[in-house]
Amino acid sequence: MTQTRKIGEVILDLQGISLSFGGVKALTNISFNVKEHEIRAIIGPNGAGKSSMLNVINGVYRPQLGEITYRGVQRKDMNTYAAAKSGIARTFQNIALFKGMSVLDNIMTGRNLKMKSNFLMQALYWGPAQKEEIAHREKVEEIIDFLEIQHIRKTPVGRLSYGLQKRVELGRALAAEPEILLLDEPMAGMNVEEKQDMSRFILDVNDQLGTTIVLIEHDMGVVMDISDRVVVLDYGKKIGDGTPDEVLANQEVINAYLGVAH
Ligand SMILES: Nc1ncnc2c1ncn2[C@@H]1O[C@H](COP(=O)(O)OP(=O)(O)OP(=O)(O)O)[C@@H](O)[C@H]1O
Ligand SMILES: [Mg+2]
Repeated sequence: MTQTRKIGEVILDLQGISLSFGGVKALTNISFNVKEHEIRAIIGPNGAGKSSMLNVINGVYRPQLGEITYRGVQRKDMNTYAAAKSGIARTFQNIALFKGMSVLDNIMTGRNLKMKSNFLMQALYWGPAQKEEIAHREKVEEIIDFLEIQHIRKTPVGRLSYGLQKRVELGRALAAEPEILLLDEPMAGMNVEEKQDMSRFILDVNDQLGTTIVLIEHDMGVVMDISDRVVVLDYGKKIGDGTPDEVLANQEVINAYLGVAH
């Protein structure tokens, strides 16, 4: 399973993205790129536009201005289904899981796009559907092993700690076998130990599965530890972009975090 991590070419390129909601300018003329196999962090104070940026990448929001190029193809009219089909999966700032369903079944929902047999075939458990179901279950079991959650595979998600729910949500996203994984605050609300676990899983996904990761995170220690490059947003504008060390030394970034008036 081990893969020597090597950062590749640009796979996602955003140019001049502007997004507003009525009078609220959530994003103003933002450009940055993501390289294959890298861990790219998006940081910035509350309301900076970080989640909006992820929502633009996976087609939830359509920017009024700007261009998105994914694997050399310029994307127009992106919607969430097309984004998912093209290999982009995500987790949400507020956990989006079926609380009454087991861990296993929740992760299985991440396989939906990969399923070929239709609902009726599955209901009848007809030959090909049966084979397909078994293959999907195997994939899901692999993910469960990878994330070390075998012991809770049958537990309803609503009964789990917040940290474990976040891990299950990561599992659901991984079940889609994405090329790009978008994580919106995967460590929010976690204690130190849970954060360390989640950091390790993110690094393992990146290293062993080769998945490109775009991550929003408020914990600067974590960001500096695990990301290759960082984009900094403030009031919908990009104020920094570079390696963790570069953005830490950027005066505009320091001012934004210290709350200096601007
Ligand atoms: N659907 C929406 N309708 C109206 N305004 C929105 C919508 N989504 C985001 N906004 C506004 O856009 C701005 C950026 O919000 P966004 O959620 O992207 O910030 P964020 O950086 O993710 O913040 P946080 O760290 O608090 O999650 C905010 O002013 C927010 O109120
Ligand atoms: Mg957000």
